[in-house]
Amino acid sequence: MTTGPETESSPGLVIRPATLGEIDVLCAAFPGRPRVLHEERIQHQVDGHGPYLIAWLGGEPVGHLQLQLPDERDLDSMVEGRGAAWAEDLWVTPGARGRWVGPALMRSLESEARQAGVARLIFFAGVSPEYAAARAIYAWMGWRERRREPFVESATLPRDDGGTDTYVEAVTIWEKELT
Ligand SMILES: CC(C)(COP(=O)(O)OP(=O)(O)OC[C@H]1O[C@@H](n2cnc3c(N)ncnc32)[C@H](O)[C@@H]1OP(=O)(O)O)[C@@H](O)C(=O)NCCC(=O)NCCS
Repeated sequence: MTTGPETESSPGLVIRPATLGEIDVLCAAFPGRPRVLHEERIQHQVDGHGPYLIAWLGGEPVGHLQLQLPDERDLDSMVEGRGAAWAEDLWVTPGARGRWVGPALMRSLESEARQAGVARLIFFAGVSPEYAAARAIYAWMGWRERRREPFVESATLPRDDGGTDTYVEAVTIWEKELT
């Protein structure tokens, strides 16, 4: 799938699923994410569980967002998601921000979910000021906060140097009906 320019401010923007052959380029462009995570997301996509969408500007990867289709074998997907698909890890490189790449990634994800027959999407978004841009974009795109009370989400991710990073974040759940 290819998405053309979304706005005047992002000419030449292309959004498409990642490929295994692009792993080295993705690792160089997104050093904040370990190689194993990119690999896992592409494998997830190959297995038919939803695309790992990459935004390209001028031939360089500048953003990513993963779609996780509903998975009956995954407890989080079924219990917290109630059968919805998940949007995961929206990120635009600092140098490419302010050019509507983030909204274009979200739009592509919604379109992929629709094509897969999904009726509802959900997303965890942080409540701290650093997520103000993301929260403004979700609201503008018709997403709504399912519950305004924040709860804590934690995750431990492997680093490329063999260590691990632990993240603890206060988040709320956002959702969007696709019908
Ligand atoms: C959130 C993020 C993806 C936004 O991507 P982006 O492509 O830079 O988005 P833009 O800045 O072009 O925003 C588009 C519009 O959103 C609105 N917006 C952006 N930042 C905003 C802010 N801090 N407050 C209110 N509205 C804001 C504006 O209307 C903006 O358009 P304008 O600048 O022409 O007025 C990017 O900032 C990012 O990667 N942040 C760090 C990671 C993150 O927060 N991820 C989300 C996890 S839930």
